[in-house]
Amino acid sequence: MHKRGFWKTRFGFYLAAIGSACGLGNLWRFPYVVGENGGGAFVLLYLIVAVVIGLPLLIGELSLGKFTRRSVLSATSYIDGIHQHGNRFVWVGRAAVVLSLIVLSYYAVISGWVLHFTTQFLVGVFSPESFAQRGNMEVLLNNGWLQMGLASVHLLLTVGIVLKGVQEGLEKWIGYMMPVFSVLLVALVFKSLSLSNSANAFRFLFYPDFSKLTWSSLIHAVGHVCFTLSVGFGTMVTFGSYLRDADHIPTAGARVTIVDTLLSLFAVLILFPVALGASNTPLTDPGLLFEVLPRFLSQLQGGVVFGIAFFICLYLAALGASIGLLEVIVSNWVDRSKVSRSFATWITGGAAFVLGGIAAVVSAYMRGMRLEGRSFLEVMDSLLINWCLPVVALGLSLVVSLGIKTVEKEKLFVDQNKIASVALFPHWLVMIRWMAPVVIGVALLLQVVGLILTGI
Ligand code: PFF
Repeated sequence: MHKRGFWKTRFGFYLAAIGSACGLGNLWRFPYVVGENGGGAFVLLYLIVAVVIGLPLLIGELSLGKFTRRSVLSATSYIDGIHQHGNRFVWVGRAAVVLSLIVLSYYAVISGWVLHFTTQFLVGVFSPESFAQRGNMEVLLNNGWLQMGLASVHLLLTVGIVLKGVQEGLEKWIGYMMPVFSVLLVALVFKSLSLSNSANAFRFLFYPDFSKLTWSSLIHAVGHVCFTLSVGFGTMVTFGSYLRDADHIPTAGARVTIVDTLLSLFAVLILFPVALGASNTPLTDPGLLFEVLPRFLSQLQGGVVFGIAFFICLYLAALGASIGLLEVIVSNWVDRSKVSRSFATWITGGAAFVLGGIAAVVSAYMRGMRLEGRSFLEVMDSLLINWCLPVVALGLSLVVSLGIKTVEKEKLFVDQNKIASVALFPHWLVMIRWMAPVVIGVALLLQVVGLILTGI
């Protein structure tokens, strides 16, 4: 095994973990998933799942990394080695890495969209009306080659940063953007809440109407929580493996979850007052963010400047998350073989480019076709996030609950100076051992039932 880097500062870990968690999942995906699942009841379900499934799994992944000092693939085979049960858990590690590669490609395409809008805003400086028009998104979605080109620019940047290594690479870049983004988002929340539709948006988002939930809503919540917290990809195992002994995992996990959840809530608070006023944009559309936000900004004084700043920050958030994904794959590969870090980084970036490029071109080609009213992109997204990701996350919960002895888990979780951690330990054990597998299993089952009842 190669010598592991450690976070230079505790802050460095937070920057990387938060940088990986906060991304397109919060700002692009969460709003339309909330729209798809009918608003308030889903938001409530999402918050509950984040606390009882997402956070325990996040703590579990970080613990697995810190315990084994390895990335997910080596970590799972190491656990198999300790128990001498043959290859019981290593499939989870393999599945996590494959999923990371597929999601990296898919993520690169969406990050390419952000790049497109960023340049649109920069060019639009000279004619503010142009970016307010609907149809920008249509042009992009119909042009697979443009999406492929944009995705390749994004991947080149990601590869460049990961090549610089854990500390210089991750800590520096993500550190620059976070404060700017936070200020900008808070300003946009205030602006949006001053719109006349904000009361309707509040009702839609926070008044739970349970009749709006469907058979798939629970798995949509589970899948999205895992996606947004970067759980189920092995990312947090890698990040945990770089933690120092003194770092307290539950505190770290809770902070990452809080920041990530706040960001998602900010996103819906910014978008929904505008989206509810604009009757021609379906709330369930994956283009929601890109359709609604430019229009909103075009109505604001200084909207162009806001637009440029917002899309640059959104792009940097997407970059931070992509860095996390690429980092996992590279660290797994480098851990397991003698290849150099730069070779692994280039090859992985290249593979993501090929996969993402194919997906972009195919989805543009299949624009008109619908499966059960869904586009190619939506079907891919659903397969990855509502089916594959929950299964891998379930596998990881089993690795942690069955593969690491309770005394070891206690050492990882409990800090005698933090009384709360002593009290919370048994609860975490129950959540990771029972709650997570059972809820994920039930959610998958409900999804199957829903498919059968609606005739697939
Ligand atoms: N959590 C990221 C988001 O919400 O956009 C997506 C992601 C990044 C998932 C990195 C997994 C990962 F390793």
